[in-house]
Amino acid sequence: MIPDKVPQEDVYHAPQDLVKGAHVPNFEKYKELYLKSIQSPEEFWGDIAKDFFWKTKHTGKFLDYNFDVTKGNIYIQCMEGATTNICYNALDWNIHQRNLGDKVAFYWEGNEPGDELKVTYRELLHQVCKFANVLKSVGVRKGDRVSIYMPMVVELVVAMLACARIGAVHSIVFAGFSAESLFERIMDSQCSLLITADGFYRGDKLISLKLIADDALQRCRDKGVPVEKCIMLKHLSKEQPDSPAASPSPPAKRPCPDLQQETPKDKVRKIRPKAQVPWNPEVDLCWHTLVDGASEECEPEWCASEDPLFILYTSGSTGKPKGVLHTVSGYMLYAATTFKLVFDYQPDDVYWCTADIGWITGHSYITYGPLTNGATSVLFEGLPTYPDMSRMWEIVDKYQVTKFYTAPTAIRLLMKYGSAPVQKFRRDSLKVLGTVGEPINPEAWQWYYSVVGEKKCPVVDTFWQTETGGHVLTPLPAATPMKPGSATFPFFGVVPAILNESGEELEGPSEGYLVFKQPWPGIMRTVYGNHQRFEATYFQKFPGYYVTGDGCRRDQDGYFWITGRIDDMLNVSGHLLSTAEVESALVEHPAVSEAAVVGRPHPVKGESLYCFVTLIDGVAYSTTLETELKQQVREKIGAIATPDYMQNAPGLPKTRSGKIMRRVLRKIARNERDLGDVSTLADSSVIDQLFNNRCPTAV
Ligand code: WTA
Repeated sequence: MIPDKVPQEDVYHAPQDLVKGAHVPNFEKYKELYLKSIQSPEEFWGDIAKDFFWKTKHTGKFLDYNFDVTKGNIYIQCMEGATTNICYNALDWNIHQRNLGDKVAFYWEGNEPGDELKVTYRELLHQVCKFANVLKSVGVRKGDRVSIYMPMVVELVVAMLACARIGAVHSIVFAGFSAESLFERIMDSQCSLLITADGFYRGDKLISLKLIADDALQRCRDKGVPVEKCIMLKHLSKEQPDSPAASPSPPAKRPCPDLQQETPKDKVRKIRPKAQVPWNPEVDLCWHTLVDGASEECEPEWCASEDPLFILYTSGSTGKPKGVLHTVSGYMLYAATTFKLVFDYQPDDVYWCTADIGWITGHSYITYGPLTNGATSVLFEGLPTYPDMSRMWEIVDKYQVTKFYTAPTAIRLLMKYGSAPVQKFRRDSLKVLGTVGEPINPEAWQWYYSVVGEKKCPVVDTFWQTETGGHVLTPLPAATPMKPGSATFPFFGVVPAILNESGEELEGPSEGYLVFKQPWPGIMRTVYGNHQRFEATYFQKFPGYYVTGDGCRRDQDGYFWITGRIDDMLNVSGHLLSTAEVESALVEHPAVSEAAVVGRPHPVKGESLYCFVTLIDGVAYSTTLETELKQQVREKIGAIATPDYMQNAPGLPKTRSGKIMRRVLRKIARNERDLGDVSTLADSSVIDQLFNNRCPTAV
């Protein structure tokens, strides 16, 4: 399945100094290891597992599973009988076994330049233990779900590791999501605790996070399912804005105590508007007060391999997000191994992944992968464009970053400003560049490779999903000759196939559905609280396979090329959104009777949202209504889902059975007149009307 030979021409190779000393130095070695990972998984992963701490060793098979719905329930079980703790492996084990206590775990770089912190492995362990004790003191126990809604601060890592330490299950909600989205996720995972922060700045924009969190908590109360406690980190300001001295709040509202020292960041922040910080003494607790009195020692909870580690929500094609559940041992091995081999991690690396921890990329490649390897990482709170277009490269030089991982959307955004902002900085520390989140177009790949990496750094185009836990199709930087835009070949333990519509495996050059034939340690185990949905979403369509939902092409050299989603999912700036989710936000507006949403190509975001709305009788379409509808989507889901285009659709193209023909709408959104076969259309007169009403800005 892996080709015997890969082309040596018209491909890109790693420079010799990277090849020397690389974990996987050439394609032959990759093939040899790949074969071993498939034929003798016990041996392959067993060797890797030796580098980790196990309280008890596994007794059963390395991987036991059923991938075929026709043969019974789908299950994946890894390392039965083993007990461990991922937080212990990420911190204590590195400190005691590898003597890394004084090594920097994170360089934190704030939104404002000059706003920075450094935390070593030992300091991180102390903070985590203290907070783990805090969690216990507020009643969190093994197996309890804890919702985390925080900006990109070290305490976010502390909170997630503290959960992992005591066997609680974290459910991190990206801090760009709305109150409604947070509420929905808290309810679905039945969290007893929410951890949040007062607020943060993204560029110039203030986000009053606690205000949004309170809105979500109120919605939970209204549903009769109150969250017992909310711990708030004071990130933005020392002064509690609602303290009696600062505002006429009722005296019952206790402020969080002041922190002692003023730092440069406080000075910057003083001149900016303060976050609104509502405070409910019945529920709210101050992070700093709780941590102050807590002990720095906390014995980890030894977890079974298949104990849940975290839930992370991802969009579902029905509109309701799915709580993807990952478990302890398999995820740990997979996140650690992919990190080590895909970035060819070396002990003196400074690694930087620009993703937010609120997404899977941050879970696997900011927290768990780098920390289990004892790596030093940059943790960045800000934006690539703030205060100017050079910010990323300034940070690369400042910390002498060697391995850099970002998204195609960020590359395309920066590309628009040309090479000058990049060339203001040297970037000569860089060795490997990576991308994730969506297909990277060859132009963006070339720019990244030539301008950012000066043709000296391989680009690892890593294809994976929230569900896969870690990279599944990816080059290895020293071993795989690269083709711009191709995610190349499978990672160890992963067996991809391409199926046609009838579920037959295609051989050789072909295009179809990308599926996987067997599990690897990091694959999700279930949809939280809904195993049936797990089976229906990923295993029903083609029994015997995990179905990714992505289309894929294999070329004459055996390289895999992801062609994009083939379900009702959109990828906006590397974030998956379901069309159903946006449609349901639109129809909640009293003026809307029906809505249909499709993707339209966008030069920076990859895809943008184009919405067709049918209004109820008697309501006139207006720009005011349009603004209201866009705002409604923002409020329901979050800013990432804000529609770019909207148009009045008095009628939608439907089949006789009433199914909306999205294929036709996609053409209208793109202003493409050749609609293909429309013989199944119930009423063809809607087409002209839809073309006439096209959104004028969608040229
Ligand atoms: C897309 C992000 C092409 C794909 C880690 C997938 C990609 C979805 C790539 C998962 C890539 C991610 N090339 N497409 N290198 N990486 N995708 O769950 O459609 O947020 O199914 O996980 O992003 O998005 P998710």
